[in-house]
Amino acid sequence: MGDWHPESWQKRPAKQQAGYPSKEALDGVITQLSSLPPLVTSWEVDALKNQLAAAARGEAFLLQGGDCAENFTDCTSPIITNKLKILLQMSLVLIHGLNKRVIRIGRIAGQYAKPRSADSETIDGVTLPSYRGDLVNGPEFTAEARVPDPVRLLRGYGRAAMTLNFIRALSDCGFADLHHPENWDLDFVRHSAMADKYHKIVKDLSHSLHFMETLGGAENPEINRVQFYTSHEGLHLHYEQALTRQVPNKTGFYNLSTHLPWIGFRTAELDGAHIEYFRGIQNPVGVKVGAGMSETYLQELVERLNPDDEPGKLVLIHRFGAHKVADGLPGLVNAVQRTERNVLWISDPMHGNTESTARGVKTRRFENILSELSQSFEIHKAEGSVLGGVHFELTGDDVTECIGGARGLDETGLERAYRTQVDPRLNYEQALEMAMAIVENQAAK
Ligand code: PEP
Ligand code: CO
Repeated sequence: MGDWHPESWQKRPAKQQAGYPSKEALDGVITQLSSLPPLVTSWEVDALKNQLAAAARGEAFLLQGGDCAENFTDCTSPIITNKLKILLQMSLVLIHGLNKRVIRIGRIAGQYAKPRSADSETIDGVTLPSYRGDLVNGPEFTAEARVPDPVRLLRGYGRAAMTLNFIRALSDCGFADLHHPENWDLDFVRHSAMADKYHKIVKDLSHSLHFMETLGGAENPEINRVQFYTSHEGLHLHYEQALTRQVPNKTGFYNLSTHLPWIGFRTAELDGAHIEYFRGIQNPVGVKVGAGMSETYLQELVERLNPDDEPGKLVLIHRFGAHKVADGLPGLVNAVQRTERNVLWISDPMHGNTESTARGVKTRRFENILSELSQSFEIHKAEGSVLGGVHFELTGDDVTECIGGARGLDETGLERAYRTQVDPRLNYEQALEMAMAIVENQAAK
């Protein structure tokens, strides 16, 4: 790593970066950010890496989920709590059904920068730079809002810190106590079929817990709190660089803005700036894998991102789409197997299944999401590999962005509460239903 440094990415072509009008203003912000305290610790990062190694061996299962993009205005108690609630509920369903430890990772506390397919957007003959996430510019279609403003980096850091502070407090005390899973119930689903099924699972788990504690004679303190990790796409390399630090008594550099940063599908170029930055950090790193990537390319990527073949270091997040996964995935799984290197494969069944309705509304179908997932489990099994986790775009709120699920949400129903500025998310019920479907699907095998 002699030639690597947190800034060495700057010598490579960087895609999807913000074009700031003033380099001085950006440099000033980066200097400030570089002196602020980290958001996570190296011990947490190392602990996560160990857990991901277990998932790669099939001994644990990774549940990663959250918004496509967090907004600064979503840094509120109900929105954060609801997201935590749905992820905790889904994890209970998975623990119960898969009989494995579940590693929970939110797309949260830093998921503020977005890659865009076009650099600009034209509405009614007016062309402005695209919205690149709250970390960069504003979503409003005005020239002023769309100018990248580096002060947003400080605001994003602040929002991430506030979000994480609240998550840590909730994870560490009464709220997260498995003896009181009623704390995780969401009000508006009291009458849902999903809720009945879920409460049966909770009852079953509570009985087992009670049985264990009676047998052991004491409560297990690990049951009173939960571990919850964070992740975001490491797209904005100035932000990532500013939070990349050395820590006493450990070698190398850690990205201490999040536990698991990942490289998006549009920026995973072998000689590009993102791979250069990611190859040098100690964190476990994710990379999106999908249609169009060749076997040799993926083999090279695995070598560059995990040169020492550390278990738990590299998470390959595949996202093909329900109609492409059967063609694309087996070859890539085999190619990685031929390298004889450790990776954790997980499925993102969202990003290959985005479509537009006749009215031009961006959506995803529950059935396609589930189909890609079921096919992925089967493909890994058939190839002698392990699908060790799932990656969802979801929210704990009652939005209407994806079609289908038990309530039969249809195209016209999307209008009721379509809130996303970027990709469509599973709502609370659809997310819980998805967790149950995964378990049923696996039980049927
Ligand atoms: C995302 O995860 O929001 C995303 C943009 O995914 P991908 O890079 O796979 O397109
Ligand atoms: Co997305």
